[in-house]
Amino acid sequence: MTHHLVVTTSRRPAPKLIVEAGQWAQRLEAKAVPRGDCSLPTIAAQENVAGILVVGANRPIYYEPDRGIQYFFHPSMAKVRIHNIKSGRGDPMITAMGLADGDEVLDCTLGRGADAIVASWIVGPKGKVVGVEKVPLLAQLTIDGLQNYEIKPTDVAAALRRIQAHPADYNHYLPKSGTDSFDVVYFDPIFDEPLERSQDMAVLRALGDEEPVSVEAIEQALRVARRAVVIKQRAGTALWQQLPFSVQLTSGTTSRIEYGVISV
Ligand SMILES: C[S@@+](CC[C@H](N)C(=O)[O-])C[C@H]1O[C@@H](n2cnc3c(N)ncnc32)[C@H](O)[C@@H]1O
Repeated sequence: MTHHLVVTTSRRPAPKLIVEAGQWAQRLEAKAVPRGDCSLPTIAAQENVAGILVVGANRPIYYEPDRGIQYFFHPSMAKVRIHNIKSGRGDPMITAMGLADGDEVLDCTLGRGADAIVASWIVGPKGKVVGVEKVPLLAQLTIDGLQNYEIKPTDVAAALRRIQAHPADYNHYLPKSGTDSFDVVYFDPIFDEPLERSQDMAVLRALGDEEPVSVEAIEQALRVARRAVVIKQRAGTALWQQLPFSVQLTSGTTSRIEYGVISV
């Protein structure tokens, strides 16, 4: 679901921030509103919008006063997961994907980019990770965050910077992608029932598009993938039985998550 929004700055903005807010407004095809001394609920009411992207000195933050939503880019669990891999504990998504140095991955549901960052770290500079996100606000915040978010160590920062992220719907992107153009095509749709109790996931769920993955999209993904299509789901989902493909299941970080692997 796309929310109607405007862009403003933090209070008493430096001239640079006003320019940046204008650029964000262009990117999001939204109106830029001078902040003045207004509170965010006042701006939302005056402009008759649900959401406001506030461009501040540190990072852009999206607010929806009525729903109590505050959202900004951060790499979520990606850093911990990469640390686990470095410590030899592995990562269930990487295992499900069978991912290695030099591989090429298309992440159809980029979201905040955590899965793409872990994949990017594994495939390295010789590989490639492309991510597409349908909701323009999420896509633009993730594109910006992947380029600019300051994170250490440098190998993790490099993994963020290498991801090629696009604002796009996979239903349009997949049919335009070449046959056999990625090793793995990945879907992490928003689960039909909320699972994670984390505030992080609740916000992504509120802002993200909840469309379930269709047979047609998986058929396209199987054409685009050289090796496998991998789908993350809540364990026990009816989806696996509904699909007209042979799905091999591997368990996720917790027993409540599983990855379905459809080999090409
Ligand atoms: C559960 S989140 C993905 C989280 C992501 N794996 C991460 O690590 O941050 C699902 C995302 O897919 C996006 N999405 C849903 N349908 C889409 C579509 N047709 N094309 C592109 N993105 C889509 C949603 O807006 C949402 O941001």
